[in-house]
Amino acid sequence: MNKIVEVLPDKEALIQRGLAVVVEKIHGAIAARGRCTIALAGGSTPKPLYEQLATQSLPWEHIHIFWGDERYVPNTHPDSNEGMARHAWLDKVEFPPENIHPMPTANADPTVSASQHEVELQQFFQLQPREFPSFDLILLGIGDDGHTASLFPHTEALQVRDHLITVGNKDGQPRITFTAPLINHAYTVLFLISGASKRPALAQIFAPIADDTTYPARLIQPRDELWWLLDHAAGQDLDVR
Ligand code: 6PG
Repeated sequence: MNKIVEVLPDKEALIQRGLAVVVEKIHGAIAARGRCTIALAGGSTPKPLYEQLATQSLPWEHIHIFWGDERYVPNTHPDSNEGMARHAWLDKVEFPPENIHPMPTANADPTVSASQHEVELQQFFQLQPREFPSFDLILLGIGDDGHTASLFPHTEALQVRDHLITVGNKDGQPRITFTAPLINHAYTVLFLISGASKRPALAQIFAPIADDTTYPARLIQPRDELWWLLDHAAGQDLDVR
């Protein structure tokens, strides 16, 4: 694994650097494989990045958008990761509708939705049973508790190794999430981290030894390329040599 850690002076610089890396990865994937498959992070940090991506002139018809996790709400709900990305980016540019692959959240049983999305990925990537696809780029954040995607501390989702998609659990609220092995099969994983509130979790995530189930972002060890882009407020304590 090739690990790159960069601490940027402030959030604006972080977003501009994130934009440059994402655009580079998009062009690289299309040049190498004819398309780019991106799984988006939710939460608040990436929203300005998505707004910047909406200003770019990119070959949208060759880009396919997925989500690394989703809250179990309709896309019209203010908590929806799909809704946030559509409002900030996807609805502002000419994506073919079939290139957008939201996580389903309509079924009363989240495990049914998780299975539905797993089948959708298997069909999209034309997978054999138990085969994991390699997304070109997976964007992630971390919570103050060290979770990533919807892989929350001490939850069953952390142990799932034989599925692409599973049900996450945040304080009893269901989420749909990529599993750790699916994330780790990506060509590139990019963490975009901002704010001093992330420092305690980052210290544990970057520590040589700590408990992975307490700090699930430690589980993300992609075989290819791992980027950590942090603003100074978040990354000031990290030894990034
Ligand atoms: C979500 C995200 C989640 C997010 C972190 C950080 O659905 O909330 O996917 O993993 O990346 O919670 O969120 P902030 O960017 O809002 O700090």
